[in-house]
Amino acid sequence: MASPQALYEGKAKIIYTTDNAQVLRAYYKDDATAFNAQKRGNIAGKGEVNCTMSSYLFQKLEAAGIATHWHAQPSPREMLVRAVKIVPLEVVVRNIAAGSLCQQTGIPLGTVLEKPLVEFYYKDDALGDPLLTPGRIQLLAAATPEQVEELTQLSLSINQHLGQFFRECGITLVDFKLEYGVDAEGKLLLADEISPDTCRLWDDSESDPERRVMDKDRFRKDLGQVEEAYQRVLERVLAHC
Ligand code: TMP
Ligand code: ASP
Repeated sequence: MASPQALYEGKAKIIYTTDNAQVLRAYYKDDATAFNAQKRGNIAGKGEVNCTMSSYLFQKLEAAGIATHWHAQPSPREMLVRAVKIVPLEVVVRNIAAGSLCQQTGIPLGTVLEKPLVEFYYKDDALGDPLLTPGRIQLLAAATPEQVEELTQLSLSINQHLGQFFRECGITLVDFKLEYGVDAEGKLLLADEISPDTCRLWDDSESDPERRVMDKDRFRKDLGQVEEAYQRVLERVLAHC
């Protein structure tokens, strides 16, 4: 039995090999970064929350016919995933204006968008994950126009499923970021994680613009009670089971 090798260490996860070349093990850390790692910290228990919540949501999406890399969750911080080649695009879906959309367009925070907005960012930390145009995606050969269309439709469908799910938990899905990968057979799979790190989630029972925040914006904006917010999201998600 070969000993596991750390293949890659990212800001929030370490990816290890397993005995099966088709399967990798993701270890979820408590390390938190924001603004392209200019801000660093630690959110106690985050690894367990993000791993458990992602596992639950990936299985939910699989049941709805969306292929994901999820394979198993052997422990609270570990997820076995199918090995994929990550598409170098971060796909952001927005339902309500927040974050960089407000900063870059002047649209006021909280504006409900007429229809969901799908955006593509280049997955490159050195460049600060810049927003791409269709032309730049082709120039970088990051994806074909057909893949961009497939990623758009898939992300909109995931938005519908997740939006409905969170609504039932009393949470508004403001926006989120997805990553995809291609497996050995060339199949496109939803990858990475779906968690309070990668989603903006607002508590429907709170109207105060700071109190309602249940996601990583509490860390980004120093709103306090970060750990509590992550735990509350997980509790609501698991209570939905
Ligand atoms: P943004 O408003 O900062 O562009 O973020 C949009 C969504 O993407 C938000 O839900 C947070 C998520 N996100 C990540 O998951 N990773 C990132 O590196 C960034 C910048 C945003
Ligand atoms: N995860 C990103 C980073 O550190 C940014 C963010 O989530 O705000 O760099």
